[in-house]
Amino acid sequence: MCYAIPGKIVEMNNRFAVVDYFGEKRNVLNDNQNIKINDYVYAQGGIVVDKIDTKEALKILKFWKQKFFELKVVDKNLSQIKTGETAKKNKNILAILQKANQNRTLNRQELLALLRLKDKDELQLLYKLANNIRQIKNDNACCVHGIIEFSNCCKNSCHYCGIRKESHIQRYRMSPEQIIKTAETAVRTYGFKALVLQSGEDPYYSDEMLELIVKKIRALGVLVFLSIGLKKSTTYRKLYEAGARAALIRFETSNEKIFKTMRPGTNLSARLNLIKKLKKMGYLIATGFLVGLPRETEGDIIKNILLTKKLGADMYSFGPLIPTIGTPLERQRLMDKNLMLKIIALTRILDREAKILVTTALETLDKNGKKEGLLSGANSLMINVTPPDFRKKYLIYQGRPDKNKQIGKNIKDTVDLLFSIGRAPTDLGI
Ligand code: 5AD
Repeated sequence: MCYAIPGKIVEMNNRFAVVDYFGEKRNVLNDNQNIKINDYVYAQGGIVVDKIDTKEALKILKFWKQKFFELKVVDKNLSQIKTGETAKKNKNILAILQKANQNRTLNRQELLALLRLKDKDELQLLYKLANNIRQIKNDNACCVHGIIEFSNCCKNSCHYCGIRKESHIQRYRMSPEQIIKTAETAVRTYGFKALVLQSGEDPYYSDEMLELIVKKIRALGVLVFLSIGLKKSTTYRKLYEAGARAALIRFETSNEKIFKTMRPGTNLSARLNLIKKLKKMGYLIATGFLVGLPRETEGDIIKNILLTKKLGADMYSFGPLIPTIGTPLERQRLMDKNLMLKIIALTRILDREAKILVTTALETLDKNGKKEGLLSGANSLMINVTPPDFRKKYLIYQGRPDKNKQIGKNIKDTVDLLFSIGRAPTDLGI
């Protein structure tokens, strides 16, 4: 777990260190030779990203001291299951939820029964249980990463995606200088401590260009998160050396037939192999799938969650398909929000300590998606920091609620939402 509030280094042993946050201890990795015991640092995803001046740290901690404990109380109250909530429910479902609560392994039939829940009260109980597990295992930290969408050019033809090469959209590529400048603003003006660099699969950016971008952004004192698709593992190796420490790459679907149809010319095993290699290289891994592809069954969804877990995901990233005009899937039916909430809850039951993202696609599906996702087991978010002129052209799907939203306003709304449900926004140095 990471807090973007300064923590104090209280133990050190080579690359391993222990950081203290108001008495809570967290293990972290530290590559910075200049950091010593008693220094204050920012850590992200278990990695020290920056050292912070003691005076400055104490000032920030003064603000946080009271807030930190106040938020935890709100979160705890919201996530407690009260006895009345379990009355009058289907006995079979109650028994499965009880089993999940005791951290006993659920079999396929039980997982399917939860995924098929329809009754409103039973759904609420499932979400509450997942939220409760999240609170007990992860406390109230919520990652808030910034995301820069630096190119909407893509060499692929994925049937679901609005930036597939056949799409008649206005294309853009941000220059390395523009990307670095955007990152500087995100860090210096808005206080982000982790930045995701996302693009279509765009061969235009050479290894040298990407290395320069990563180095410069890493030097701002943030966790650099890559979301650039399938590249050679040697490229990812160079980018790790340049300072990138996390990679977001969804496998999209574990169903080989669906993968083949939806992603012509690409290959599921190559994608899975790359994810495995990146994990071995030391990258923090964010991966997951799309929900609602044609011919997908409930069994496929369960397989997708289990595969994400098997890949050792540090962060789960899955979202609903948003049918997009101009793509082969433009006529696909929009899914029910509850299916997404059930998947978040099941994921939390199956992987109690993971980070689970609420994606913008869920917010696009339903304007309350962000809050409801967070109350169903999720604990991570991203805020778009792409300059507006580029952002509105990053049309993976249409109708994104953050399309025209000012960055400052989006941060304020997100922080207000998080505070209202007792979550501490991490990765954002506020
Ligand atoms: N709806 C929702 N998500 C989409 N993605 C691509 N197209 C869509 C769409 N129409 C997702 C893919 C990709 C991520 C960057 O965006 O899962 O991995």
